[in-house]
Amino acid sequence: MIYYFSGTGNSKWVAEQLAAKTGDSAVNMMLNRGPQPTNEQVIGLVFPIHAWGAPEPVLEFTRKLSAKPAFSFAVCTCGLEAGTTMEKMRRVYPLDSVYSIEMPNNYVIGSELESVESILRKVTKAKEQLDVIAAQISAREPVGDVNTGSAAWLKSSLINFGFNMASCSTKPFYVTEKCISCGQCARDCPAQTIRMVAGKPTWGKKCYMCTACINLCPTQAIEYGKGTAARGRYSFVDVA
Ligand SMILES: Cc1cc2nc3c(=O)[nH]c(=O)nc-3n(C[C@H](O)[C@H](O)[C@H](O)COP(=O)(O)O)c2cc1C
Repeated sequence: MIYYFSGTGNSKWVAEQLAAKTGDSAVNMMLNRGPQPTNEQVIGLVFPIHAWGAPEPVLEFTRKLSAKPAFSFAVCTCGLEAGTTMEKMRRVYPLDSVYSIEMPNNYVIGSELESVESILRKVTKAKEQLDVIAAQISAREPVGDVNTGSAAWLKSSLINFGFNMASCSTKPFYVTEKCISCGQCARDCPAQTIRMVAGKPTWGKKCYMCTACINLCPTQAIEYGKGTAARGRYSFVDVA
């Protein structure tokens, strides 16, 4: 079984591709939070990197995995680099193989949307990498292929800690007149923090900063602070 967490579709696509290529199934870990089956031959985890770390619900889910199957692996998707995330994951759960795959950056809160060329290049390269990873998983070959980047320890410890403390507030979220009250944001939110009040989204305190609400809103009505109004939106589309 391949369990994934995904805000804007990159990790979902990766999990589904790997499942199709290895004859496995991909399931959303947010919808499968109870006890997991203990008779799986393979367990895979696929998730995005958030501030050089694994998102909180991914760690929470992984801690609850009890049995070690015949083969286990984790794949993180990231705009560029993963830091020491996979070392941390290995302390939480025994992983035979770990990988990172470069995918388009969805953090429109902090940076400009990538160019179409860059998105195409990354998805094309990811497809090639997925063929290799799937073959290695099928062969149960232990592999460590992660782009940790520079100053990885510093980024995955201090900066990750600072990000989780200071940058996950829901206060800067707001909705503009473009909102059509469709409720898509509430349905997409993995933290279930968005409630529709008088037809408009309101945010509770808990937030995984997955950017699903901002990026997947069909009318681009959701903003965060001052930065996002002038920026584009991202969600995975298999364009390459
Ligand atoms: C809050 C946040 C923090 C991020 N931090 C990093 C990072 O530290 N390094 C990186 O390479 N990409 C980073 N990204 C980009 C995502 O890891 C990347 O776009 C990922 O593929 C998104 O996957 P998803 O569509 O499954 O959510 C960040 C994205 C978000 C939303």
